[in-house]
Amino acid sequence: MAGQIPQRFIDDLLARVDVVEVVGERVQLKKSGRNHSGLCPFHQEKSPSFTVSQDKQFYHCFGCGAHGNALRFLMEYDNLRFPEAVEQLAARQGMEVPREGADDPRAQAREKKRKQGVNLLELAASFFRERMKMPEGQAARGYLERRGLSPQVVEEYGIGFAPNDWEALKRHLGEQGISEAVQVEYGLLVHREESGRTYDRFRDRVMFPIRDVKGNTIAFGGRVLGDAKPKYLNSPETPVFHKGRELYGLFEARQAHRQLERVLIVEGYMDVVALAQFGIRNAVATLGTSTSEDHLTRLFRMVDEVVFCFDGDRAGRQAATRALETVLPMMIDGRQARFLFLPEGEDPDTLVRNEGAEGFQDRVICASPLSEFLFDQAAAGRDLARIEERERYASQVLKALARLPEGVLKSLLLSELAKRTGVEQARFEALLATPEPPAEQVLAAVEPHEARYRESPAVSRGALSLAARALQLLVHEPGLVERLPEGDDWCPEGDPDGALCREVIALVRAGGYRSAQVLLAHFHGSQEGERLAALAHRELLIPRANRGAELDGLVAYFQRNRQQPTRQQEIDALLGRKRQGETLTAEERRRLMTLLAEAEK
Ligand code: UTP
Ligand code: MN
Repeated sequence: MAGQIPQRFIDDLLARVDVVEVVGERVQLKKSGRNHSGLCPFHQEKSPSFTVSQDKQFYHCFGCGAHGNALRFLMEYDNLRFPEAVEQLAARQGMEVPREGADDPRAQAREKKRKQGVNLLELAASFFRERMKMPEGQAARGYLERRGLSPQVVEEYGIGFAPNDWEALKRHLGEQGISEAVQVEYGLLVHREESGRTYDRFRDRVMFPIRDVKGNTIAFGGRVLGDAKPKYLNSPETPVFHKGRELYGLFEARQAHRQLERVLIVEGYMDVVALAQFGIRNAVATLGTSTSEDHLTRLFRMVDEVVFCFDGDRAGRQAATRALETVLPMMIDGRQARFLFLPEGEDPDTLVRNEGAEGFQDRVICASPLSEFLFDQAAAGRDLARIEERERYASQVLKALARLPEGVLKSLLLSELAKRTGVEQARFEALLATPEPPAEQVLAAVEPHEARYRESPAVSRGALSLAARALQLLVHEPGLVERLPEGDDWCPEGDPDGALCREVIALVRAGGYRSAQVLLAHFHGSQEGERLAALAHRELLIPRANRGAELDGLVAYFQRNRQQPTRQQEIDALLGRKRQGETLTAEERRRLMTLLAEAEK
């Protein structure tokens, strides 16, 4: 450890730098009034919604919500960790960063040892890389080639080869003056107690270096070239490697993106590199363990969204349940977690090869939001028409909700639970306030009721227009077209989502399009594609079993109001799209103005 940076130094530093200057070096800013503004560097935009306030020493983007002080800006923009950002800011001011406890001899000794270990692991990594290039590495090169990896990706991930020799690495490191004891400590040599003999841990394996966030090699994973067991061998726990904390590919993902938005969590080394080969460079793998709190804490420091990828089998479902448990307490506002289930027998590696990058990305877009997974899981295998089952359903969801931090997600889920069970939300809130809601209380709350799903579809969900909601249902479940009335003259006019709805219905009816992915792939790259992806991405807080009824309700409503959209409907549609961050065309904006003016009369 390099020692903590004292808070007073950070305060002092922030008092001396000017955020306008720091930002201004990287973003073109114009003074407007008391603030400065420019194009936001954190999202794509054409008109400036990024402002920097000199008074407050703060930046804020009204478009994407990015905000913070000079340090945060450097961390985000230059992709730095906190201490690195502090170092950089301090350097511009000519200040030296003090470290607490840096004079402590024990801390110094620890630091020295850490450096020695890292150095040794770097030496080993370059040894493996060199060996791969030699004639003896030919089989490994061939293996990687057969698995579809280009030399660039192999190089980017620093993949190498451990020769089929009991002492090759030991000899090499020995020549560099590194003691066997240290090699054993860092997991490169195995020490046999009985014989006192030492030998190379990794032999005849393709070697994946595991790197820390700075890019230092801290451990290895080695894969056999054939079918021998174990398939993968990992470094043991060492002073620098703690399996439950590290993520393979995180360093590389951060290198590839100035601003990582989301991270995919996959299972294996090969999944990470295969996705990278297809240009999907935001995947990380846990190292044969389930995703831990440590992993997620780390990731959420860098991104707001994680997407868990699981196999579609039972084990995958179980892993997803564990991941849900772990992620719940971390879901503060602004964070997202989604769950992607792959078809049985596939992993990201095989899938991206079969479906290509776009197909895979579409799956990511369609991954279930946490809310959907939570409700689906609680409902799985239950007959919700039965009161006891509904009680268990409610208690399972409540138990999960109890683990959620206060915030928008929690209130959304609570009101959704109320809607689904027909119980007043206040009763669930009261239950949540008691530490462990006794089962009888939940049971008493979940009384039988008739109208679990209200008939009027006009219950507004967020800012989506009704046509958008119909479209959203269809994107999530194209198979629903089967229940639609013939023709499409019920689709609302004068709403672009209505028009897109028609197109989608025609396509699905024409056949072939039964999955959201295929639908998205069809529209990929067009404006409609973006709209559909946005809708697919949006939470669909309706249980699978009730989506048909929901759609029927919408259609009935449209049919009643077929003639002309009322003024209010048209206003709602336009405003709805605007609130979702869409830019309206000039004509649409004029139309909205006119409508609003008329409405005021
Ligand atoms: P898998 O068995 O799913 O392998 O292990 P994979 O990633 O699909 O590998 P390929 O495609 O056959 O090469 C997933 C992860 O579990 C850990 C590794 O981290 C691996 O990437 N694992 C697996 C081990 O640590 N040891 C093993 O023997 C097997
Ligand atoms: Mn695999």
